[in-house]
Amino acid sequence: MKCKVDLDCSRLEHTHVKTVAADQRSENIERLSKMKTIFTILLASMIGFVGIYVYIKLSDYLLNSESTDQHTDTRTHHKIVYHNLPVESSPQCSNIPIGNRRDCWPGSTDLLTDHKCIQKGCCWQPYIGSSPGVGGVPWCFYPIGYQGYVVQSLQKASSGMTVQLKLVQPSGWPNDINNITLDITYDSSERLHFKIYDSNKSRYEVPLPLHQTSNKVTDTDINYNVDIPTNGTFYIKVYRKSTGKILFDSQEASPLIFSDQFIQLGTQLSTEFIYGLGEHRSSFLVSTNWTKLAIWNRDQPPKRKTNLYGSHPFYLNVEDDTNSHGVFLLNSNAMEIEIQPTPALTYRTTGGILDFYIFTGPIPDQVVQQYTELIGRPFMPPYWALGFHLCRWDYGGIDGLKKVIKRMRDANMPYDVQWNDIDYMRGHLDWTYDQHKYNGLPNVVDDLHKHGQHYVMIVDPGISNTQKPGSYPAYDNGIDGDIFIKKHDNSGPIIGMVWPGNTAFPDFFHPNVTTYWTNLAQTFHNQVEFDGLWMDMNEPSNFVSGSVTGCPDNNLENPPFVPPVLDGKTLRSRTLCASSRQHISTHYNLHNMYGYSESVATKSALNTILGNKRSLVISRSTFPGSGVVTGHWTGDNTASWDDIYWSIPEILSFNMFGIPLVGADICGFTGETNAELCSRWMQVGAFYPFMRNHNSVGFKDQDPAIFDEATQTIMRDALNLRYTLLPYLYTLFYRSHVNGSSIIRPLFYQYPVSDYNNTYKIDTQFMWGTCLLITPVASQDTTTGLGYLPRDRWYDWFNQTYIDATGGFINFDLPKQHINLQIRAGSIIPLQQPAVTTTLARKNKFMIISALSVHGEANGELYWDDGVSRDAIFWGHYNLIKFNVSQSTLFSTIVKSGYKTESMVLGEVKVLGVEIAPTSVTFNNQVLPTSDYSYTNKTLVVDKLSVNLTEPFKLSWLV
Ligand SMILES: *[C@@H]1O[C@H](CO)[C@@H](O)[C@H](O)[C@H]1NC(C)=O
Ligand SMILES: *[C@@H]1O[C@H](CO)[C@@H](O)[C@H](O)[C@H]1NC(C)=O
Ligand SMILES: *[C@@H]1O[C@H](CO)[C@@H](O)[C@H](O)[C@H]1NC(C)=O
Ligand SMILES: *[C@@H]1O[C@H](CO)[C@@H](O)[C@H](O)[C@H]1NC(C)=O
Repeated sequence: MKCKVDLDCSRLEHTHVKTVAADQRSENIERLSKMKTIFTILLASMIGFVGIYVYIKLSDYLLNSESTDQHTDTRTHHKIVYHNLPVESSPQCSNIPIGNRRDCWPGSTDLLTDHKCIQKGCCWQPYIGSSPGVGGVPWCFYPIGYQGYVVQSLQKASSGMTVQLKLVQPSGWPNDINNITLDITYDSSERLHFKIYDSNKSRYEVPLPLHQTSNKVTDTDINYNVDIPTNGTFYIKVYRKSTGKILFDSQEASPLIFSDQFIQLGTQLSTEFIYGLGEHRSSFLVSTNWTKLAIWNRDQPPKRKTNLYGSHPFYLNVEDDTNSHGVFLLNSNAMEIEIQPTPALTYRTTGGILDFYIFTGPIPDQVVQQYTELIGRPFMPPYWALGFHLCRWDYGGIDGLKKVIKRMRDANMPYDVQWNDIDYMRGHLDWTYDQHKYNGLPNVVDDLHKHGQHYVMIVDPGISNTQKPGSYPAYDNGIDGDIFIKKHDNSGPIIGMVWPGNTAFPDFFHPNVTTYWTNLAQTFHNQVEFDGLWMDMNEPSNFVSGSVTGCPDNNLENPPFVPPVLDGKTLRSRTLCASSRQHISTHYNLHNMYGYSESVATKSALNTILGNKRSLVISRSTFPGSGVVTGHWTGDNTASWDDIYWSIPEILSFNMFGIPLVGADICGFTGETNAELCSRWMQVGAFYPFMRNHNSVGFKDQDPAIFDEATQTIMRDALNLRYTLLPYLYTLFYRSHVNGSSIIRPLFYQYPVSDYNNTYKIDTQFMWGTCLLITPVASQDTTTGLGYLPRDRWYDWFNQTYIDATGGFINFDLPKQHINLQIRAGSIIPLQQPAVTTTLARKNKFMIISALSVHGEANGELYWDDGVSRDAIFWGHYNLIKFNVSQSTLFSTIVKSGYKTESMVLGEVKVLGVEIAPTSVTFNNQVLPTSDYSYTNKTLVVDKLSVNLTEPFKLSWLV
């Protein structure tokens, strides 16, 4: 924890937005210019641009004749004399292309007028396609040469530098900080850290445990160059040393502003290919057409252009030579990120400091690896968590639940985990179950365990405060331990309203909260032996604004800048008052980390309860670092074809955010699904890293076993395909855990060069690791559809023939039972015969598919352990086997052989792309009596094997 908050909090509470009364003349000008703004908008829509232009010229003439170039700044006590006020005709204003305008009036709570704009030292030029102050092309924008901060001194050190900056031009925002410091640290050859903070006073910093490098490097070892002027207007430029391409460049981007509650910095982007910046519903490629992304965690069923459940201020940007880099702003305050056509990006945050990390990649997956090296690698899930999960809100009681479990088993559906939503609770109270409606729940859970299955149930953070004293430990213990979030004045817990009615909210940053939470979880686990916990409503969600008694009026509740969050200019909407108090800081600072902190406490509780067994936590609200402890589902989606599509960019993004165990509610949460939609969704869902079918209250059942035979067959086939692929998926999770590689990847990670303009935009298809390409169906009545095949050799999973693709869209046959799955030539994929649970499947024989490259080569690997021990990797209790094909021989290498408890038997090897029929096939130099070669498919199949995979083997086909 590196939070130094107390100073800061008191400052935030006691400073007020001071305004000095403006003099009469200035008020008159303001009134005039306000009228002018309104009139201009009206006029704009009425008579178009020519009219506006004439009108502005005229009114500016009137206005300018009234004003001088001396203004009193009405926002601070200082009297400021502007010597070179920009006017629109000056070159600092008129030479700026529309797309490059840097907004000088972003979402202020003040109404924008031209006078106020000019007073800020900015240029004013109305634009017909946008409105002032709300986004799009700004009317009020910074001139070229805007000063802001200048460099006072620059001191170089062996692995970085320290720069002192001084404010020379007030920003117009309240409480500018005059002296600020920039620390630049060369963390490693691939990672640059720079941090801008108040030189004189400590401020809130994000309490995230980061994996810092111990040995910093010197400037001869780094892959980047940093350029800071030694005097004059401040900027920071970071280039890639080998190519000179931009990694960060603030020089002609939005200027640095560092005031108490408004902090801004902009950067040019290398290209318009930018990804990340969650949590939002948009295409994977973020549009540079004046996109404003608000980051402020919010319980909101995913929709476009609004803040959603989590915060991820991390992006990946591609350079024009296909190299990539990443930029992470470590800041947890409410913020806006604007991306504009330049292309450029502006951060505007409401607190904290500017704490940036730049990752130089240059391969996209390396960018993600370098990011997760800092924020923490994803956890290794238990093997069962990769199976199929089933849930719905409202099973109608224990009989409904039992009925579903039985029909899933009767239908032979692969199915590992049963979940419960809030209906299992007594009166929606956490850590209780309804002993009447769900009488016998512990036995049902035992029965799941006996069948090799697992159980996960929902827990919300809101703790009811209206139970009889002494009857509800969750509240009583919270009061005793004093662990609830408090009102702004520390006068007891802040009370909101969630499912059980009025509730208090545990402060998951309180030092004693883990003990409190663990005790509750342990007591409940003594009754119901859950295997994982589902964290919902943890933005935190609140059905009333702020609290049941509203919020006080202070500068945290009413900051001068509010990002464009849902429900207008208020942070309290559907959550707690910003000025409520947590142990280490205010909710204003910590809000975006609530779900993260709850996940950390929950994982810790599960580790205590389950000992060395891995558990599963799935959280709705996330923050950088959440992937270390939790997976994520994409929230309350809808049973629609569009929602199948949206799930793909969402899942791609979360893989980039270091939370690879992610999935959308299959078949849709709200709304009625249908057999076609649900079976197509089960087909794509079979490739979600986290595969759960979940349904809301009041809608028809949508578990696979409820459908007709034909639909059931489609769903069972999809599930069997997933279960067949689990050894490969598990190996990808191992790589994600140890190296930070993404599991789900966009096509351009692998194919950035030849298909530049195509692959960078594709988010309707995705890859598993580097080996499998999935082209899902997300539209009704589809029998054929276009899919992109990158330039390479691709084998069809089902008929095993190959296409030598040249890079382009091809028309696929997509009958309703068909899953379009391609194997990249050069891949070796470990598989296993499926079964109705992973517990059973793990006992089956392994298979290997080897898809040869044009040169007859291939490689792959298999990670295997007991699937549940938390310390398997730490103690080396695992096997890691590499497979290679060269010169018509497939051979294995045992990299690690530390897990001997279960045998690993290889039953079958398939080699795809064997061009010439083999004359004989040998296994460890013994000629095999049988093998099967298909002339049509050019496929060699060697089955009926019974080979110990933990010993090296060699399979050769002689031609
Ligand atoms: C800012 O730094 C200067 C020295 O560079 C110092 O004289 C001044 O007092 C500082 N201002 C504040 C507000 O700390
Ligand atoms: C400002 O910096 C430039 C180069 O960066 C240098 O040539 C010039 O002498 C500096 N001026 C002062 C006053 O330090
Ligand atoms: C950018 O967005 C505006 C407003 O939505 C739209 O009118 C315009 O066509 C878009 N421009 C591009 C290049 O897509
Ligand atoms: C945490 O619990 C310990 C033991 O009960 C107590 O002494 C301590 O004051 C508590 N800490 C806080 C911050 O409440």
